[in-house]
Amino acid sequence: MSKTFDVIVIGAGPGGYIAAIRAAQLGFSVACIDEWKNAAGGPAPGGTCTNVGCIPSKALLQSSEHYEHASHHFADHGIGLEKLSIDVAKMLKRKDTVVKQNNDGILYLFKKNKVSFFHGRGSFVKSVDGGWEIAVAGAANETLVGKQVVVATGSNARALPGVAFDEERILSNDGALRVGAVPKTLGLVGSGVIGLEMGSVWRRLGAEVTVLEALPTFLGAVDEQIAKEAHKAFTKQGLKIELGVKVGGVKSTQAGVTIEYSDAKGGAKTLEVDKLIVSIGRVPNTTGLNAEAVGLKLDERGAIVVDAECRTNLPGVWAVGDVVRGPMLAHKAEEEGVAVAERIAGQHGHVDFNTIPWVIYTSPEIAWVGETEQQLKARGAAYKAGTFPFLANGRARALGDTTGMVKFLADAKTDEILGVHIVGPMASELIAEAVVAMEFKASSEDIARICHAHPSLSEATKEAALAVDKRTLNF
Ligand code: FAD
Ligand code: NAI
Repeated sequence: MSKTFDVIVIGAGPGGYIAAIRAAQLGFSVACIDEWKNAAGGPAPGGTCTNVGCIPSKALLQSSEHYEHASHHFADHGIGLEKLSIDVAKMLKRKDTVVKQNNDGILYLFKKNKVSFFHGRGSFVKSVDGGWEIAVAGAANETLVGKQVVVATGSNARALPGVAFDEERILSNDGALRVGAVPKTLGLVGSGVIGLEMGSVWRRLGAEVTVLEALPTFLGAVDEQIAKEAHKAFTKQGLKIELGVKVGGVKSTQAGVTIEYSDAKGGAKTLEVDKLIVSIGRVPNTTGLNAEAVGLKLDERGAIVVDAECRTNLPGVWAVGDVVRGPMLAHKAEEEGVAVAERIAGQHGHVDFNTIPWVIYTSPEIAWVGETEQQLKARGAAYKAGTFPFLANGRARALGDTTGMVKFLADAKTDEILGVHIVGPMASELIAEAVVAMEFKASSEDIARICHAHPSLSEATKEAALAVDKRTLNF
């Protein structure tokens, strides 16, 4: 006899586990199925984000930033160190502990919210009267019935055509987080978010890092002025970034990896590195779901086709997160998970795609929300811009980190904020104010009139808002 649940969620990444918890809060009986295994073969809920994404990458970014501060910036504060060293094994162990705390946290939340967790692979069997039969195969082997099913199966790293990840020398995000010793030389294909974050980790620890990017522009999705500033900072730190390249052959040898490529001028070049990280985007994951057999519609990229409210073409089947259209971000997946649970309950779940923040956790950090200046120009919008450099911010000076700026873009007539772009210290935290402001349809004057604590980095936000009206007080 199959167990029946009101809602079955397949995948316990940020999209899935949050959907399961919200559905349980709303009074449904909920099962969540996830197949991720920890090193001991036990359950490791949290998906890409917790196991090989957001959380471990930020743990390593933090460790490597401490190392960089100790090696380059402590002396400015009068702090002397006899001998600085890095124990990579210990750093990785700490990262694994942080990951496990998050895995355990999710298992605790499932218990607290009475979500039944099944460790194994979930796949569609058939539609049955009043729902869907879902098979679980793995540590748990059962057949369940869900009146409603939420698919949150995430994404996988995209490989270069014909170049498989061996996770020893040719690394995806997974191997990039497990490198056991600082490589002398590290190559990266793709200067997107993963490339810049993982490149920063290993550069800070002493690797010579070369980034090969296909596009002729650096960080094309970022506001041009901000991307330019970031490029300047990364280059100064020693990151070698080659734009407009075409990667040809990639060969793994005993000694390392050889990459043949043509540069922006078409010149043939060879790069030899100890390790290569390929970070050229991710592909939606529907492996093993048995999607075709039940007629679940996928698009040409392999993403599950959904409407604006995350409904698939099958009745009672929803999909959220990386496996559907839209930015591949943990917080976007979470918001969709909450919205779907609320829609199942007959409520009006809502995700505002115009105010989803982006953060790149490099140093300087890059964060933005809303439209870039180039997007505004492209749509012929009348806008005003205001910028304020961290160089003129007292807290940034005290921190010893004055790189970058805050930039506001506001409607020329109504003054409504259209976009906020930050490159600089703690941009990841500063952007939250801009997200709230845009969600409440604030004007730049609203921010300019709000009292901000002194001395704080957030004063740069206020000053950038003042700059829209050409009335900065401290610059
Ligand atoms: P996932 O997190 O991929 O979870 C899917 C889960 O479903 C997995 O546990 C998988 O095992 C399971 N699963 C798949 N198929 C089945 C099946 N048939 N049966 C059972 N289980 C199944 N985003 C941010 O917002 N901020 C960041 O700082 C950030 N950093 C990142 C760093 C890296 C290196 C990477 C790779 C990604 C990062 N991301 C970040 C992106 C973020 O990880 C994803 O957007 C997010 O994890 C998507 O959540 P999801 O729930 O859709 O899928
Ligand atoms: P990405 O889409 O951010 O960047 C991929 C880069 O590779 C692009 O610049 C692209 O032009 C380039 N590229 C593509 N094919 C290429 C080729 N053949 N040769 C050279 N360059 C090529 O993808 P990335 O870095 O793999 O990350 C995947 C996703 O994971 C991100 O888009 C983001 O959604 C998520 N992520 C989010 C983070 C955050 O929020 N801080 C951190 C890391 C990942």
